[in-house]
Amino acid sequence: MTVILYQPNSEQSHSVILKGDETVLEALEGAGLDIPNACRAGACQACKLQATQGQVPAIAQQGLTNAEKTLGYFLSCQCRPNEDLILTQPEAQKRAAVTVLALKKFSPQILQLRLSAAFPFVAGQFFTLWHQGNIARSYSIASTADEGFIECHIKKVPGGLFSQYAFEHLKVDDTLEIQGPTGSCIYAPKDATQPLLLAGLSTGLAPLFGILKQAIQQQHCGPIHLICAAKNVQGIYLAAELKQLEAAHTNLRVDFVVQDGPTEGYTQASVYDFCKQAHPSTKGYSVYLCGAQSFVTKLKKQCFLAGANMAEIHADAFLACS
Ligand code: FES
Repeated sequence: MTVILYQPNSEQSHSVILKGDETVLEALEGAGLDIPNACRAGACQACKLQATQGQVPAIAQQGLTNAEKTLGYFLSCQCRPNEDLILTQPEAQKRAAVTVLALKKFSPQILQLRLSAAFPFVAGQFFTLWHQGNIARSYSIASTADEGFIECHIKKVPGGLFSQYAFEHLKVDDTLEIQGPTGSCIYAPKDATQPLLLAGLSTGLAPLFGILKQAIQQQHCGPIHLICAAKNVQGIYLAAELKQLEAAHTNLRVDFVVQDGPTEGYTQASVYDFCKQAHPSTKGYSVYLCGAQSFVTKLKKQCFLAGANMAEIHADAFLACS
């Protein structure tokens, strides 16, 4: 029998017995406790807790920094402990308040949200937003630090608790809680001449938009190819802004690739075939891939097989959350 003692603060203590193959997150939720979480797949780190006594399995610390591991931080959605634990909320997990600066619908399905900058960040990283204390969703950062705000692009998810709230109720000057940033999908080429291939599916464009602006700010002079892919034209956004950037920078090429018609003048193709045709060899490239997990996995393999070094393929896979 494995017992966890959860002490979120100095006044509360909850003793919970783990059943069968339960994770720590499932056991605490089963006991009626609200533990922030989003992906439940080890990616967003929203469910991070700290073990002050007892050893957590290594798999529950995958993706954390060495400092976090030493402090006993772990992902509760990935943790099936073999021994009793005493747990608390990590200090670093504390959230900051941010103000909504601007909201704009790019399309009926995609919302641009700008927030006051609550912490230092690098374009392409991601952060977690909270609503009502325990609904947490992670979003990639589409702005650069120089812009002075945090921008994210929220896709409307049917039945999605946070996206529905954001689309229907969020307004300028509202306050949200934010935690972050984290993630390493950032502009980091070997040098300014390296070819960059940026491919995103739907709101996978958000971190790529940030990375692209960062590359331009840092005067990247090698060729940059941005591919914005979508299932249909409703998934294409920021087209005019990106075409303006393309016109202003001779080393930048932007393509919009739509899988299903009508295409309204955009290229109709499979993004995988389009990528293969445009870049038969990706040797020497710095590659950035963002979007749904299946898209990122398939294109990552394709780019690797076409010659890109695995260490030069930066990926940010989005996980579906309701
Ligand atoms: S990492 Fe556990 S909920 Fe995302």
